Amino acid sequence: MARTSNLAYPARYQGHGPTGYTGNDLVRYIAELAQLRIRVFRDFPYLYEGGLKYERRYLETYTRSLRSVIVLVFEGADIVGASTGLPLADETPNVIAPFVEQGYDPAEIFYFGESVLLPQYRGRGLGVRFFEEREAHARGLGGFCWTAFCAVDRPLDHPRRPPDHQPLDHFWEKRGYRREPSLKAVFSWRDLDDDAETAKSMTFWMKRLETPG
Ligand SMILES: CC(C)(COP(=O)(O)OP(=O)(O)OC[C@H]1O[C@@H](n2cnc3c(N)ncnc32)[C@H](O)[C@@H]1OP(=O)(O)O)[C@@H](O)C(=O)NCCC(=O)NCCS
Repeated sequence: MARTSNLAYPARYQGHGPTGYTGNDLVRYIAELAQLRIRVFRDFPYLYEGGLKYERRYLETYTRSLRSVIVLVFEGADIVGASTGLPLADETPNVIAPFVEQGYDPAEIFYFGESVLLPQYRGRGLGVRFFEEREAHARGLGGFCWTAFCAVDRPLDHPRRPPDHQPLDHFWEKRGYRREPSLKAVFSWRDLDDDAETAKSMTFWMKRLETPG
């Protein structure tokens, strides 16, 4: 593994899984993770007006799963980046449903939550590592044929789209993922400056998980 600048190696923690880590490994990082997600997702395209209550509910899905994974990037004792994943079958019904409707078996899909990295740590290959580590985790568990994640759909003329905004589509395509317009879900959260949560359309991306041999 390549060391990146003065950052600690990304470390992998998982639920009460095969390597013996316990859910407590995740639980003790929840407050920090929530802060990081809130900070990074304020920016376009998420525009997320985060709250700790929403965050706890969201992250509980990961601490409950026996086979979840979280990849953390530390600078000293601080978490500056994080990336999560879990078997799709352990996700909430709104995430599982579109796959079932399209004829996929949820048991064969490993689902990625988010990748969040503070801006000053971007462009050093850590985003690539997030994918590599989570795919390696899914391979290690065995039984998964696909990895998948989803991204928010924002209109091109969205008033908050920064003029220099670069979508991550190329980054994801380069990792081997394909956007699947037939796979959509609705998530609700409160946008910046809004009074209440509103529904957002999300589209899934997928890739066949190559397994050696
Ligand atoms: C997604 C994210 C973690 C990527 O992290 P990163 O460490 O900067 O990515 P890397 O350094 O590994 O970049 C890998 C490649 O993607 C490209 N890339 C990274 N971010 C990009 C962007 N915003 N737009 C276009 N290309 C981008 C890099 O140039 C690099 O290209 P290369 O493979 O040709 O060299 C980071 O941009 C981030 O936290 N974004 C905000 C949160 C977000 O939108 N997360 C995704 C949805 S959950």
